[in-house]
Amino acid sequence: MHAAIETHSLTRRFGDRTAVDGVELTVQPGTFYGFLGPNGAGKSTTIKMLTGLLSPSAGTVSVLGFDMLDQSQSLLAKRQIGVIPENLALFDNLTAIEYLIFIGRIHGLSRETIRARSAEMLEMLSLEKETTKLVLEYSHGMRKKLSLAAALLSNPKLLFLDEPFEGVDAVASLTIRDLLSNFVSRGSTVFLTSHVLEIVERLCTHVGIIMNGKLIEQCEMKDIQASGSLEQRFLQATGADKLQTPRLNWLEQS
Ligand SMILES: Nc1ncnc2c1ncn2[C@@H]1O[C@H](COP(=O)(O)OP(=O)(O)OP(=O)(O)O)[C@@H](O)[C@H]1O
Ligand SMILES: [Mg+2]
Repeated sequence: MHAAIETHSLTRRFGDRTAVDGVELTVQPGTFYGFLGPNGAGKSTTIKMLTGLLSPSAGTVSVLGFDMLDQSQSLLAKRQIGVIPENLALFDNLTAIEYLIFIGRIHGLSRETIRARSAEMLEMLSLEKETTKLVLEYSHGMRKKLSLAAALLSNPKLLFLDEPFEGVDAVASLTIRDLLSNFVSRGSTVFLTSHVLEIVERLCTHVGIIMNGKLIEQCEMKDIQASGSLEQRFLQATGADKLQTPRLNWLEQS
């Protein structure tokens, strides 16, 4: 069986800066993968290349066995994946329901299926009273929830979630965590980025840490937990455990 995600020497340059530098990733189906790294490490750039939103400067990307650099194969992969992209990329002048119908129709779902699934998800995410509002009028957390509903709508095999918990309230966070755990336990795959290490530690089965564009760690969560916490491992791997937090003396003077 093919891997859910496989990359070789995946590289993306912006001018003379290498944002993603020779990344070798293998994610097996049924994995809950946490992709971690400091700000600017290359996480979102990697997700964009994995989902066909951005072309690599070099290297290969295979998703669900399809070559993402081949246009017709990448289309087959895109039918089976769901994405929360970094910038959410919603359509501001549609209502939530109109937006979900639009996404559902792109995936070839019937209107009845879209309506039934949308109603269930919007209720689950406490958006059921907001369905007539334009997306433009949504708060940040509401936009994030709608983006998740859109990503799930087609019942994908693989979800790419760039910071799914950022900006959502505690109740929604719990709902999303349960939903994603059930999604993975049926054999589907989640690849997410998050800075909330407590959530990643609770949810993920595998972790990759990227820094300055290079994958510096790829391991199973149980191996990390056998020798301490994810936060300790993250700080060690990134060298942040040896740094002293600088002080702003002027801020400490009254
Ligand atoms: N379109 C772009 N043009 C130029 N540089 C870019 C572009 N997109 C990303 N970069 C650069 O690539 C590097 C990686 O950015 P990326 O957005 O992948 O980081 P990230 O790990 O997702 O960070 P964060 O945790 O802050 O979301 C950064 O140095 C960023 O400035
Ligand atoms: Mg990012």
